[in-house]
Amino acid sequence: MRLERRTEAERRMEADRAHGGPAPTEPALALAGVTKAYRRGAQPVLCRVDLVLRPGEWAFLTGPSGAGKSTVLKLFYGAVRPDEGTVRVLGMDVARVPPHRVRRHMGLVFQSFELLPQKTVLENVAYGAEILGFPPREAAAAARRMLAAVGLEGLAGRFPWELSGGEQQRVGIARALIHRPPIVLADEPTGNLDVDTARRVFEIFRAVHQEWQPTMLIATHSRDLLEWAEARVIRVEGGRLTEDTAASRRGAGKEAALP
Ligand SMILES: Nc1ncnc2c1ncn2[C@@H]1O[C@H](COP(=O)(O)OP(=O)(O)O)[C@@H](O)[C@H]1O
Ligand SMILES: [Mg+2]
Repeated sequence: MRLERRTEAERRMEADRAHGGPAPTEPALALAGVTKAYRRGAQPVLCRVDLVLRPGEWAFLTGPSGAGKSTVLKLFYGAVRPDEGTVRVLGMDVARVPPHRVRRHMGLVFQSFELLPQKTVLENVAYGAEILGFPPREAAAAARRMLAAVGLEGLAGRFPWELSGGEQQRVGIARALIHRPPIVLADEPTGNLDVDTARRVFEIFRAVHQEWQPTMLIATHSRDLLEWAEARVIRVEGGRLTEDTAASRRGAGKEAALP
């Protein structure tokens, strides 16, 4: 995959980033002493957790269903507020900055593709840029480049219902990452896909990471994804975050492969 050079609008966003507060020397993503309970008095989903991802780092969040993986991502993109502690994105305290200021530096990819059914593939991808203020012609040009990057240039005129699940997810990724964001958050991005299609989506994430080195945090319970990437793995369980070492992960993978 070859992602092409940035447009004027993308350069403007970078300049804005330079003047808008985010400090490049800060951790890209950080939780400090974060506690979150959805109901008062209930057992917290996260209990005084700390986490730091450096700029350009690629990490996975794993753990059982209901452990709090989505909650960690939601804290970063501002859909959930912590009861205690601080959440920082590119040095910005998300409690003190309007959500749109934080989110313009992010690409968000979800399990359900959430494409707009009345728009074509090209329009869906361009929309990701239009809502960030790209002029329509630049948005369309960026959308074409991004569709080529995910191998879907031939499907630009189709509607979402004319695509397979894997193709829909690639459109979702193209839309989410059209502005080459420095932060990529993905919540079970291959959760609805078979293993071959998941592999294809994974290769797109890898190409994206090589291309502009965003900080990427991907929540998944797919062992395949963890094995393919050999990246840092953070486990969410019992209100805590723990690091999985590569060695123990390979062991766990082998165990799971036994009959
Ligand atoms: N909006 C909410 N209100 C109440 N409970 C919630 C809400 N969102 C998530 N939870 C609960 O918090 C826990 C963690 O959820 P989540 O972060 O979605 O876990 P995961 O993504 O690891 O499956 C679960 O027990 C879930 O039921
Ligand atoms: Mg989840």
